[in-house]
Amino acid sequence: QWTMHSYSESAIAAVRAQVGQGRVISALSGGVDSAVASILVHRAVGEQLHCIFVDNGLLRFGEVEQVSQVFRQYFHIPLHVVDARARFLDALAGVTDPERKRKIIGNLFIEVFDEEAKALGGADFLVQGTLYPDVIESVSFKGPSATIKSHHNVGGLPERMRLQLVEPLRELFKDEVRELGRELGMPEEIVRRQPFPGPGLAIRCLGEVTGPRLDVLRRADRIVQEEIREAGYYDRVWQAFAVLLPVRSVGVMGDGRTYEETLAIRAVESSDGMTADWAHLPHELLARMSTRIINEVAGVNRVVYDISSKPPATIEWE
Ligand code: XMP
Repeated sequence: QWTMHSYSESAIAAVRAQVGQGRVISALSGGVDSAVASILVHRAVGEQLHCIFVDNGLLRFGEVEQVSQVFRQYFHIPLHVVDARARFLDALAGVTDPERKRKIIGNLFIEVFDEEAKALGGADFLVQGTLYPDVIESVSFKGPSATIKSHHNVGGLPERMRLQLVEPLRELFKDEVRELGRELGMPEEIVRRQPFPGPGLAIRCLGEVTGPRLDVLRRADRIVQEEIREAGYYDRVWQAFAVLLPVRSVGVMGDGRTYEETLAIRAVESSDGMTADWAHLPHELLARMSTRIINEVAGVNRVVYDISSKPPATIEWE
């Protein structure tokens, strides 16, 4: 009978066989996939693995701290955190086109990661948390005609760095990755994490990505996260997050008139991210999120709920 335990054993053995005495690096994104892949590879080859976490300033509230703590304190895996926040902000200044944002972030990520890998003495292998749906999507979407959205975590790095890929999750769906994470002893708070895109908050900050706008988005997103957990919906939806729109509208606050940006809440149900239905969240929950965001986050005076499914809408707005 097929179990996650035996899958994990054979995946560890396969990584050992592939890597031999080679040096391995991995890029942590803060998400479940890269974390599970890295921990599995660490089980297989121990100190031959170095994990690099690029802090691009596009992460959610408290994410860098949480990932550092889990890796360093819980798993005792050496983790190299690179503070590249200013570089990413500079590179994104004035950019509003979604694909350009993705390209800039993807390229700069490669540059920063490459520098850090060299500083660590180089490597032969690169761990990637590629899942089965990523394999399918990049095959079916990247036809000769068009790329729907460029996923920067698929491709890019190895060609330039001449690294061989180690992809222990290639055959798995998201729920299986979570099960594997549990099997490897990962804490629930990481295992149950909702997916988060490589380009991070930049593709949820429509229009120009600036420090202050990211800050508004991060604070609103934190409220969405808190309320969705509080209501017991965190595990029942695939993703729930905030999107900041560069659309200003008029409001009233006390005796004054406001003219501020709009925050969209996106929550979807899905089993693999390839198709999704907008989540029918209780109105009371939406009301609490809206009231808190408008009261607590300066710069937002209107909250809307996205009721589009995928297809035709994608889960992310960019
Ligand atoms: P879309 O927006 O294409 O998203 O419906 C489907 C799922 O993929 C995630 N996503 C990404 N994940 N790098 C990632 O690792 C990316 O560039 C990226 N773009 C979208 C998205 O959050 C959703 O779960």
